[in-house]
Amino acid sequence: MENEITTPNTNTESAPKKRMLSGIQPSGDLHLGNYLGAIKNWADRVNDYECYYFMADLHTITVRQDPATLRKRSLNQLAQYIACGLDPEKNVLFLQSHVPAHAQLAWVLNCYTMFGELSRMTQFKDKSAKHKDNINAGLFTYPVLMAADILLYQADYVPVGEDQKQHVEITRDIAQRFNSIYGDVFKVPEAFIPKAGARVYGLTTPGDKMSKSIPEGCVFIMDSPDEIARKFKRAVTDSDTEHCVRFDRENKPGVANLMNIYSAITGESFEEIEREFDGMGYGAFKPKVGEAVIEHLRPIREEAERLMADKAYLNEVYKNGAERASYIANKTLRKVYKKVGFYQLP
Ligand code: TYM
Repeated sequence: MENEITTPNTNTESAPKKRMLSGIQPSGDLHLGNYLGAIKNWADRVNDYECYYFMADLHTITVRQDPATLRKRSLNQLAQYIACGLDPEKNVLFLQSHVPAHAQLAWVLNCYTMFGELSRMTQFKDKSAKHKDNINAGLFTYPVLMAADILLYQADYVPVGEDQKQHVEITRDIAQRFNSIYGDVFKVPEAFIPKAGARVYGLTTPGDKMSKSIPEGCVFIMDSPDEIARKFKRAVTDSDTEHCVRFDRENKPGVANLMNIYSAITGESFEEIEREFDGMGYGAFKPKVGEAVIEHLRPIREEAERLMADKAYLNEVYKNGAERASYIANKTLRKVYKKVGFYQLP
């Protein structure tokens, strides 16, 4: 059956809803960290906020990308967003490069951001250590583009995982600096970080966040059930003698990570999980977490596969999303251009 979309209702007649905005880079396949740290949190709140979610393709080229793969991922990621519960009728879903105002505002904000504050960004330090042969200016000014993404939409909240908190903080600083010169141009946004799932660690490296760069310990949302089961079976647990399921981030990081994942998926508290697995060892716990993840992701994967085959529908969602997003973004950009003194034609 063909999928149909209508224009999202982003203007209600009653009190205006608060606005949420966030994005994910289509630089790799979506994984459990992206899902639990970000997308699930977005989808759970769709009825209470006016929501803008995008694929941050401009950000991806700070690291070299294969052009054909980037194009393909940009479309597949949209299918995966929708399959994760982001209904295009209720959320404005778009591709960052389809809305030129992001790059335009980023230039202006570059001139209101200090070299010193960008130098302190941990993501810049990490990424420049990882890509020593390509420490480009875009990697350095990445947070300014992210600030533009957020401020263009006058977003109230930015739902992200913990690793992006620093970028939301610099966005607030830039907005406040600009506002202090020109008046209230930008809404100063707040990061919105989920309790469970805020930081999912790699299954094989419970000291590092789950990331596509360590694929053995990274569960992708499109992984087959067998693959997910295998990854959880090989999850690193801890070498303590106690061997029981108890939340202790410092001394039992592997088990704590599995508990965090299980809690984010099932909604159970850590105490409830400890009770459920009382008397069972890690060997029994690991596959149980795997099973919960497999069953949770199964309908998402199936729906994403169905949508990925419907390119016409995905193109239409993107077209519609870009129009809706541009309307708001251009309004902010015009205001900024006027404030800084760019001459405007009558
Ligand atoms: P990105 O693409 O690295 O990650 C997207 C989202 O997934 C979250 N996340 C995680 N959460 C928990 N555990 C993990 N292991 C994990 N890995 C990733 C991230 O916190 C993020 O919420 N700069 C952003 C993309 C971006 C953006 C924006 C976000 C560009 N412009 C404007 C919000 C608003 C990034 O690289 O996220």
